[in-house]
Amino acid sequence: MSVTPPGPIGDPLFGNGRQYADDPFGFMRACADSYGDVIRFDLGPRETYLLANPADVERVLVADAERYRKPQFGDGAMDRLLGQGLLMSEGDTWRRQRDLANPAFHNSRIAALSGTMVEHTRDHIADWTPGETVDVQLELARLTVRIIVSAMFGADISDEEVKTVQEELEPLGARFEPDPRRFLIPNWVPTRENREFDAAVDTLESVIDGIVERRLGTERDPAADPAGPEGVAVPGPAGDSDGDLPMDLLSVLLRARDRGEQTDENLRDELVTMLLAGHDTTALTLTYTFYLLSNHPDARERVETEAEAATGGGRAADDAAAGGGRAADDAAAGGTPPTAADAREMTYTDRVLNEAMRLYPPVYTLFREPKLDVKLGGYRIPEGSALMLPQWVIHRSPRWYDDPETFDPGRWSPERRSERPRFAYFPFGGGPRHCIGKSFSLLEAKLILAEVCSTYELDYEGPDLSLRGSLTMHPDHPVPMRIRER
Ligand code: HEM
Repeated sequence: MSVTPPGPIGDPLFGNGRQYADDPFGFMRACADSYGDVIRFDLGPRETYLLANPADVERVLVADAERYRKPQFGDGAMDRLLGQGLLMSEGDTWRRQRDLANPAFHNSRIAALSGTMVEHTRDHIADWTPGETVDVQLELARLTVRIIVSAMFGADISDEEVKTVQEELEPLGARFEPDPRRFLIPNWVPTRENREFDAAVDTLESVIDGIVERRLGTERDPAADPAGPEGVAVPGPAGDSDGDLPMDLLSVLLRARDRGEQTDENLRDELVTMLLAGHDTTALTLTYTFYLLSNHPDARERVETEAEAATGGGRAADDAAAGGGRAADDAAAGGTPPTAADAREMTYTDRVLNEAMRLYPPVYTLFREPKLDVKLGGYRIPEGSALMLPQWVIHRSPRWYDDPETFDPGRWSPERRSERPRFAYFPFGGGPRHCIGKSFSLLEAKLILAEVCSTYELDYEGPDLSLRGSLTMHPDHPVPMRIRER
């Protein structure tokens, strides 16, 4: 057996960085198609190994998780943006932050947030006019920012602040697009891109500081928890055991700061992390879902049927309105607000969301770095190299999915699912570092679908979808959709 895994030849300075930067998605798949389960190449100076087999992904994320850390990519940008927040911290710091954050993501608390999620969705789509065309990605990003700030920070965010966050995402995203020259230009060099990035981080932090300021003094007030009494009943972290305290993330972190367990910097890092990780991914999942539904009317109709059942809206609401009484009042307000229990009944919608995240995983590859030499797929992988665990490649592999390019929600039936290895699908990662916001985002996505699809159909009017890789996988153009009343 060869000691070095096969892989494409790169050029002396950039390795395969240029090919990766030109088309990360095509490059990763071509590698897996040509070279097998473990592929070696260089991204700039970084020795990189791509793992295309779910069994190896499972070993890295779950079985041998303690042998790996998240890599630092040399230029300091990730550190500048997310610092020691939950996504990037390691070791004891990560454990402490995760234990602190967990109660805010407790299942009963998430379920109690459905009212907040629906209320924001209704407010947002009340501004839509049938016949108009909107950029759905932008619309959903604005809505999900409002929801995360309200649900996790217990605060409202003004239209102006939402706009600011959106505008700053552009230079932030640009900074994380693959660029083969980046390792030659560290973060402190005042290039235009670096200056814009720095200014964007400053602006984002000032929005966060404003939110914290508005919440100061309410971190012990149960009325401040948007999840209501059910949310505050969740057991808190150690030191938070004195009963009815609000369990939204910001209250939990502020109390930890009062106890001397958090610095102002920890607090800010955590809030920037949650604001970014907690809205963009869900907005993208929904954008791709609406795009796919627009191209698959049969699936759309089935989602609409579930949406109507969940909300009592759409045609069901018309019938109720005709009948008069309380049902008619609910119908006028957009139907009975759907709850987490209603969302659980939306089983076909679950399959549609799974299929959307299979084809278009918002997080399209994970990165890890071995802390010591390891063996994977029969090869020795050296300490300090970069490992890529690409959802993009594995989710579209014909080894695990028949006809992998086809949208087929039916492949998520329990029988068909059980035929595949566990890590043939991992949009939320896995093991100890799995996504803390998974239940939150799935509930949010279903409630937004329930609200929109019980009333409207969105028809895609843009070009063939083309994709751009940054921290997450974005459409490379606006996503115009015409709003039509059903
Ligand atoms: C569809 C929506 C989402 C997707 C696809 C997604 C995906 C992921 C993935 C793949 C990871 C693992 C990263 C790694 O192992 O390197 C992750 C981690 C994380 N996600 Fe999500 N996420 C979503 C929604 C959310 C939401 C709504 C929040 C917050 C409310 C959130 C917060 C986080 C945080 C803090 C981590 C780091 C967890 C840790 O390392 O302990 N995510 N997410």
